[in-house]
Amino acid sequence: MAKKLRVGFVGTGGIATGAHLPGYQALDSVEVVGAADVSDASLSRFAEKAGVPAENCFNDYQEMLDKVDLDIVTVCTPNSWHCRPTLDAFAKGRHVLVEKPVAISADQCREMIEAGKKAKKMFMVGQTLRFTKGAAQMKRWVDKNELGNIYFGRAQYLRVRGVPGRLGFVTKELSEGGPIYDIGVHVLDLTLHLMGFPEPVSVSAGVYNTLATKKSPLMPFPPEKYTVPDDAAFALIRFADGQTVILEASWALNLVSGQHNVVLCGDKGGCQLEPTALVRERAGVLENITNEIFNYPERAGHVEEIRRFVEAIQKKKPSPVPGEEALITQRILDGIYKSGETGKEVEL
Ligand SMILES: NC(=O)c1ccc[n+]([C@@H]2O[C@H](COP(=O)([O-])OP(=O)(O)OC[C@H]3O[C@@H](n4cnc5c(N)ncnc54)[C@H](O)[C@@H]3O)[C@@H](O)[C@H]2O)c1
Repeated sequence: MAKKLRVGFVGTGGIATGAHLPGYQALDSVEVVGAADVSDASLSRFAEKAGVPAENCFNDYQEMLDKVDLDIVTVCTPNSWHCRPTLDAFAKGRHVLVEKPVAISADQCREMIEAGKKAKKMFMVGQTLRFTKGAAQMKRWVDKNELGNIYFGRAQYLRVRGVPGRLGFVTKELSEGGPIYDIGVHVLDLTLHLMGFPEPVSVSAGVYNTLATKKSPLMPFPPEKYTVPDDAAFALIRFADGQTVILEASWALNLVSGQHNVVLCGDKGGCQLEPTALVRERAGVLENITNEIFNYPERAGHVEEIRRFVEAIQKKKPSPVPGEEALITQRILDGIYKSGETGKEVEL
């Protein structure tokens, strides 16, 4: 039997324990052998669940990279700590799966891509939504040209009162951005993926920090702890071939109910994620095909994401979510914050 691929975790909190670990554990061809986290509590909880021996658990991830023989490093730290461990893991010749958003700036993402190329190792970004069943169905429709030329997309992830209850998400030094980085990036990535990653040329955005910065029993933290620049943001993105995408993301918004959708409109048909449906003209009527797809059986997207990552390494396939695609998304995210600050359209 071929040697198992050896995985080390950098960051062992919620997504590491709840999603990446079950993803790797579902595969016979990998074993989780190392873990690093600045928090002892997080590290020991994870180590127990993953069966990582104490001598392979570290507070300093660099020590893990130096001391443990690894093939794969899976980076599950807060956003500001995505770039450095990725660069260090590539320097050691490891494959890297890094959580979304890829980084906190396009420049960081460029460095990560270069480091991966230099190391000749797999670089994948954890854009989980792509690996859900509804997204895969939308991709099949797009690939069968059911939509024709797609000229409009709407990427929506709006929570009414859903500020995450962990400081790593709301503290600027750790997260850099709010809902745009946390949840907007998921729907934007899927929209761009389905549109074939067109070249963005400009973005005009409104970036707000209105509700999460007020004292309220509905917010998990007092205002002084909430230091990311947004609790809601809305953007119009233009692309070189004339397409437009509207992105809407919020953790807190005075809205009747939350929205989560990706909608694509083409000259032959249109489709959406929730519920997964295709609309097209046939024999003079507008036909609507709704697929009964439950997109989120517990963590299914993550399990599929990790299966595809490992398969790509083993079969020497291209990265299922390459850094170059994440770079396009990150340039847009950078543009959104800049446009929000200046109140002007930003050229990308
Ligand atoms: N793909 C998804 O659906 C999804 C869902 C949730 C979170 N995420 C992403 O995963 C990342 C982590 O989120 P989470 O929910 O697990 O957060 P979390 O706060 O539960 O866990 C983060 C862990 O990283 C540790 N950490 C912080 N700095 C570190 C460092 N320098 N070295 C080692 N460990 C360090 C923390 O102690 C903590 O245990 C974020 O980037 C987030 O955007 C993705």
